[in-house]
Amino acid sequence: MRIFRKLFSRNKLIDPIDFGAVRVDMHSHLIPGIDDGSKNLHESYELVKRLKSLGYRKLITTPHIMSDFYRNDSDTIRRGADQLREYLRNKGVEIEIEAAAEYFCDEHFDRLIEKKDLLSFGNNYVLFELPFMQAPTSLKTTLFNLQMAGYKPILAHPERYGYWHTRFDEYQSFIDKDVLLQVNLNSFSGAYGPQVRKTAEKMVDQGMISLLGTDCHNHNHIDMMELSRRMPYVHRLVTSGVLLNGKL
Ligand SMILES: [Fe+2]
Repeated sequence: MRIFRKLFSRNKLIDPIDFGAVRVDMHSHLIPGIDDGSKNLHESYELVKRLKSLGYRKLITTPHIMSDFYRNDSDTIRRGADQLREYLRNKGVEIEIEAAAEYFCDEHFDRLIEKKDLLSFGNNYVLFELPFMQAPTSLKTTLFNLQMAGYKPILAHPERYGYWHTRFDEYQSFIDKDVLLQVNLNSFSGAYGPQVRKTAEKMVDQGMISLLGTDCHNHNHIDMMELSRRMPYVHRLVTSGVLLNGKL
């Protein structure tokens, strides 16, 4: 909380944005007990209620699928989403919940691409993430196979991969290959450190971002969103008209 207050006092803030302008969040971990996100249905309900009160009308939630840590599959995620929808209905919370996944780029992902067993959303979009230490050597092949299978890749939080902070040509090469970039909302308030924030801002300056995601795992992330929604760069991005969120 002290860090939160420090970040709050250090920033030049403007009026908080209503996320009704974004309409749809497409990156979160709200299905309980299957990854490092929400721990139980009650927590999911509270998180969804808070996201709704910030203005979101629809949540596309994206549990991790990572062969070594989160062995989820399409069925566990669909079942979890059904349970969550029912719980919310019983509690009287009206909001559209859709489920997809955040695929970690590993051999398991390659096998799922081969079987065309991926949870996509919108225009057949597939959200994927990379390791934080270094990019996989097979990345280009994986993306080629993904696109050949008819999917449209979205790279989750490119600003968080430190190995590319001084390599904007790498980011540009994704865009050139029709891979969309999704920035995390809380990157703009410094939640992941100053370098991540600087990179996110530079990406907005260069018009590289197509999607904005909360990547919400817990209440702390929503607390931080209270600060992020007052950041000038978030306003710029949301009002620029480039975001595809509203079409999902
Ligand atoms: Fe995530």
